[in-house]
Amino acid sequence: MCGIVGYNGKNKAIDILLDGLSKLEYRGYDSAGIAIREKNKEIEIYKAKGKIANLKEKIQNKKLNGTCGIGHTRWATHGEPSENNAHPHISNDGTITIVHNGIIENYQEIINKLEKHGYKFYSETDTEVLANIIDYYYKKYKIGPIDAINRTMVRVRGSYAIAVMFKGYPDEVWVARKDSPMVIGKNDDGTYLASDVPAILKYTNNIYYIDNMEAACLKKDTIIFYDLNGDVIDKKPKKIDWDMAAAEKDGYEHFMIKEIFEQPDVVGKTINSFVSNNEIDFSKGNLSKDTLKDTREIHIVACGSAYHVGVCASYIIEDLAKVPTRVDIASEFRYRKLLLNKNDLVVIISQSGETADSLAALRKAKEMGVKTLAIVNVVGSSIAREADYVLYTLAGPEIAVATTKAFSTQLIVAYLLAIQIAYAKKTITKNKYNELLNELSLLPNKIKEILAKEINRIQKISSEFSNIQDAFYIGRGLDYAISLEGSLKLKEISYTHSEAYAAGELKHGTISLIEENTLVIGVVTQEDIYEKTISNLTEVKARGGYILTISPSKIDVSKTANYQIVIPETNKYFYPSLAVIPLQLLGYYIAVSKGADVDKPRNLAKSVTVE
Ligand code: AGP
Repeated sequence: MCGIVGYNGKNKAIDILLDGLSKLEYRGYDSAGIAIREKNKEIEIYKAKGKIANLKEKIQNKKLNGTCGIGHTRWATHGEPSENNAHPHISNDGTITIVHNGIIENYQEIINKLEKHGYKFYSETDTEVLANIIDYYYKKYKIGPIDAINRTMVRVRGSYAIAVMFKGYPDEVWVARKDSPMVIGKNDDGTYLASDVPAILKYTNNIYYIDNMEAACLKKDTIIFYDLNGDVIDKKPKKIDWDMAAAEKDGYEHFMIKEIFEQPDVVGKTINSFVSNNEIDFSKGNLSKDTLKDTREIHIVACGSAYHVGVCASYIIEDLAKVPTRVDIASEFRYRKLLLNKNDLVVIISQSGETADSLAALRKAKEMGVKTLAIVNVVGSSIAREADYVLYTLAGPEIAVATTKAFSTQLIVAYLLAIQIAYAKKTITKNKYNELLNELSLLPNKIKEILAKEINRIQKISSEFSNIQDAFYIGRGLDYAISLEGSLKLKEISYTHSEAYAAGELKHGTISLIEENTLVIGVVTQEDIYEKTISNLTEVKARGGYILTISPSKIDVSKTANYQIVIPETNKYFYPSLAVIPLQLLGYYIAVSKGADVDKPRNLAKSVTVE
């Protein structure tokens, strides 16, 4: 889970590399480094432990005029964060300089091989192995960069996106990938590479993608793409219509709060990208009504917040479309003995489209001959490219590690999927179909209403809970499902212990944890079961719990709640989209009041590309 960046052109590379790395820091930020070359002079390498700021400080007085370079920001997997383990890494005699995102699984076996040929290793990383194995082939067979890289790709196992500089080839940067993300771009000033679009969007929005086991050579004014045979292949760029501001904070204190306020817009965009003239159209994802009509069972698989979208979706698909729907955490699904049927549909939900467990779950389903649908936010990501059907959420680049807008757009696609399956299977009428789509189209404004009306009250109550150690989120049905997300938001950014519980389950043990002023957040939106939730909240209050409720005004919680957050009314299936807004804001403001690094919570990264 690292970020790599590279440039080769007319301008000084240093500014472009540092700017790109700062836009990739959400991918990992425990150490960083750059390699710069001026014409055919020696490659200069600078590395530093910690965030990019440390690297900037280290090189601030250096005269780095080179116009060709690569850079890296790290999230340690092999070898603890240190300057020695930071990238770029070099081969023994400096012939090869490399940055790498991913994991080489058979690196120890290759070390043993290379040590027999006299190679020595200075770091604990798997990446240094890549530098030396490329060097080994390069020298043994007296071949050029592309053949050395291709032999290496055949030899190593694992995931990688690499950028390589060869001492013998000044003014060239070589790249290759398998499973880890890589984007490539070009403009009149040169050629660019990065792990993710925001890092190079400032220079071009014509983005090239290379497939697994493909490579490319970035020259000053051209890019040559190669396949594994070393043959030149043609690549067409994809136009990305994200503006650069999307990647900048627009004046908000944190990316997270900026992205929370982007939700009305991106929810609207995502609805409109699939609904026109009151018709849902999944054809751009190659997903036909017939495929949905013939689906026997649905298996939703994901990680973290994406999994919580799956839990919400399971309630709605079963209730609306009467299709058995199972939800699995991807890291469990991939190793479980699965009872999948050829007429089932496996739905993988992922913001990044690169989460290793979710990708592996997708591949397992494909191996079993089951159709796969990906609900993904990053265009061209691995999960998107490998799934049979893809429905893109239009959240745009999500920088904050804690997902908010991507989550909300995933909910929208889940609703649309449930409605389309129900309509295809004739469990709902056209009137019901239209009614649901009408109500859905009102969601962006209702989210805007909550952000306008309730934000100050949520900020106020959050500041009163800045010292809490524990919190509980409870609800029933869809309210329980969305409580899972509320609890994760608080945990991951404020480091407060919290748990989400099905309200009826509390008295089977956990209620013993409730004492004077324990914060209990009750989500109460479902008309057919809300009284049950209120009685559970009353039981908690009787033991001293402080009750904060999130509910529409038509549900009277006044006798139980110590503090009420009121959300607009909507269709029962869509309440997760409204209830999640106060839940996100609570997590955010409690984290801010605790002085936490909201956008880059400790121990986390935006895309978990290792198992
Ligand atoms: C959520 O805020 C976290 N960033 C994390 O739980 C995330 O949802 C999970 O890692 C899945 O990521 P994905 O959607 O990119 O696959």
